Amino acid sequence: MKSIYFAAGCFWGAGHFFSGVDGVAAVTTGFANGNTLNPSYKEVYTDTTGFAETVKVEYNPSLVSLKELTELFFTIIDPLSVNRQGEDEGTRYRTGVYYTSDEELPIIKAVFDDVESRLGRPLAVELCPLRNFYSAEEYHQHYLDKNPGGYCHIPLKTFRYLRLYQDLKNLLGDESDLIARMANTAALIHERMHFWWTGFYLVRGEQLVLGPFQGPVACTRIAFGRGVCGAAWKERRTVVVPDVEQFPGHIACSAASRSEIVVPLLTDGTVTAVLDIDSTEVGTFDDIDALWLEKIAERLF
Ligand code: SME
Repeated sequence: MKSIYFAAGCFWGAGHFFSGVDGVAAVTTGFANGNTLNPSYKEVYTDTTGFAETVKVEYNPSLVSLKELTELFFTIIDPLSVNRQGEDEGTRYRTGVYYTSDEELPIIKAVFDDVESRLGRPLAVELCPLRNFYSAEEYHQHYLDKNPGGYCHIPLKTFRYLRLYQDLKNLLGDESDLIARMANTAALIHERMHFWWTGFYLVRGEQLVLGPFQGPVACTRIAFGRGVCGAAWKERRTVVVPDVEQFPGHIACSAASRSEIVVPLLTDGTVTAVLDIDSTEVGTFDDIDALWLEKIAERLF
């Protein structure tokens, strides 16, 4: 068993999140890298102790890697925000990864560098050795299990995506056929997230051609650059459309679709397919959907 320490905003939500990661054996909420001995929650709350609300994550490295855990850490924080996550403000809510062995540094650093290059801006996340860690009072351990409606700065859909993402790994296993992988991916996303239409279009020459999907019948062919799907292909980036009526050139396979997200699937930098999801309500998709659906898309190849 190994341990890593994540400061990811309020430790109630962060603890709950890492408890749901396969391969994590134990999560302890506490306070790290501060300047006093054995602080209470009340003392840390004054924001004068230097401690950060932190979760100690004990994990089995043969089931989940440090790289994966660090990547998951980045799904629950705003890495550009200084001393603020969600509604919570103060130095105790700064973000950080605190390690206990120097061999861990390059693994964690590689994930930091990747996120930083994607965002194109310096991260406001600490990366340093653990100096000290004190468990929080029993009341704060597994807080959201004890208080299911309790405050949580992490949106609920993040927890649903985490479960979906992990179950997908097991479902796809080592199946090598892309169509089979796409078919079950569409089915699992659709079933778990209750979307209205979930499916793939595959690049075939100058067009996208309908692939495995769940939901009502759909258009079979979309030209390069046309509609939301064609735009995601052309621009090689995820396109979130909060209101399809505001998107010039939207292709209405059905009048019922009101908002949409399209994620391109890249093989060696080239778009080979897109994942398209539609909702009958306006404004269904945001950055959280984009982040997780991109992770899911990466898992297809
Ligand atoms: N609305 C899409 C077409 C595909 S359907 O939504 C399934 C678009 O504009 O590309």
